[in-house]
Amino acid sequence: MPSPETFADIAPDLIRFLVETQGRTPIRPYQPPGDMEGDIPGLEEDGQDLDTIAAELRDIIEHTPCTNGPAFFNQLFGGRDSAAALGEITASLLNSSMYTYKVAGPHALIERRLIDHMGAKIGWNDCDGIFNPGGSLSNLVGAMLARSSTFPQAREEGMSGCRGTIYTSSEGHYSIVKNASIVGVGRANVRHITTDREGRMDPNALLHQIEEDRRAGFTPMMINATAATTVMGAFDPIEPLADIAGYQNIWLHVDGAFGSSLLLSPKYRDRLTGIEKADSVTWNAHKMMGVPMHCSVLITRHKGMLREHIGEGADYLFQTETDDVNFGTRSIQCGRRNDVLKLWAAWRFHGDRGYAARIERQMDLVRHCVQIIEDDPAMVLSTDPQSLTVCFEVASRSSRAICDELDRRGLAKVGHGIVNGRRVIRLVCINPNQTAADFDTFFCHVRDIAASLPDADNDVEAVKVSLSV
Ligand SMILES: Cc1ncc(COP(=O)(O)O)c(C=O)c1O
Repeated sequence: MPSPETFADIAPDLIRFLVETQGRTPIRPYQPPGDMEGDIPGLEEDGQDLDTIAAELRDIIEHTPCTNGPAFFNQLFGGRDSAAALGEITASLLNSSMYTYKVAGPHALIERRLIDHMGAKIGWNDCDGIFNPGGSLSNLVGAMLARSSTFPQAREEGMSGCRGTIYTSSEGHYSIVKNASIVGVGRANVRHITTDREGRMDPNALLHQIEEDRRAGFTPMMINATAATTVMGAFDPIEPLADIAGYQNIWLHVDGAFGSSLLLSPKYRDRLTGIEKADSVTWNAHKMMGVPMHCSVLITRHKGMLREHIGEGADYLFQTETDDVNFGTRSIQCGRRNDVLKLWAAWRFHGDRGYAARIERQMDLVRHCVQIIEDDPAMVLSTDPQSLTVCFEVASRSSRAICDELDRRGLAKVGHGIVNGRRVIRLVCINPNQTAADFDTFFCHVRDIAASLPDADNDVEAVKVSLSV
């Protein structure tokens, strides 16, 4: 076994190498999996020394897409937060597991403190919560609570005879559908409620669907309000949805994986007006708060419900302290990564005020991009952005082809999505390391590539037809 001293010598060099190389390269040029495969050392009967592993790790670093650089606009995360990274490295080296206070020590208290602080931002003084490996699983925990609330017998006896329904907008995240199958509601019983052209759920359409389902013998189980949809960044109107949930007696979950962080900004928190009336909320700190993947929390105002409806006893595990600090009594996992130290470190560094400023700066960058698009007669803005995604097209050019070409040439990573029936470029402005100049460069590349491409259509239906001919 290598001595700890060797590790302590090698690790700082590796970190320095990573930071320097990633700083030099805007993005890794695309390499097909077949080409990459042969470069990855195989697993062998005999092990290697730590220097060899460090050299191989350097090579892997050099081939990894750079998500923290100036040209990564592809997903709802990006950038590197130094304080958060220190917390993450420390957590990894400490190698604790978050199920009990006995093993996690101060980290259990940090989890408690973060949940209280985030709950207070929602408007709850006495709440409960659990950090989960990603927003999809925080949404799952929300759906499990909704099921327990609507069908209290389901945990013990299963969902036989229960005809539950889940309501989400047609722009809601696909985890809502996945989770419907996991909790036994069934994918077919997810109702995709229509939205307006800005991507916000229509409360009247929701009410109409709920009434129709009740007439057909279903029991509505959960309304999912999305606070910043994945593609358009739209905020469902939580207040009217909460009113409907209230008098219809349906669990209201807010999927704020993307947008809950706007609660930190006095300027933008009104986009989540009414969130305090929700029963549960998902909040991903690995998106707008810039904490390394993954860092997501499910918070509920119903204290004790997680313990009552998710917890199981485990005599070998829960041996000291109370459930309050033994978080394993309310998680769906047993062993659980420490995702809290990095968020605590970042929040200590930025403070509430620093986070507000950071989010507002990103929103300013969004306005900068909107201005560029509006000033260019060849570009079309798809919707007025409500959070940190900007959706647009280049007239008569395939959005898909532009994104692929940007990636192939190693200029930028950016994705595309569908907005109001058209395939559009979805530019994510979430990385605080990026500047207005980085976006200017991005749009220059888009123009150059568009000029080199043939005419094409982005109408999704038309493209489908032409592909099938
Ligand atoms: C609205 C929304 N909900 C849930 C998720 C899932 O979060 P995660 O990727 O952490 O599982 C996403 C991811 O982008 C999202 O945009």
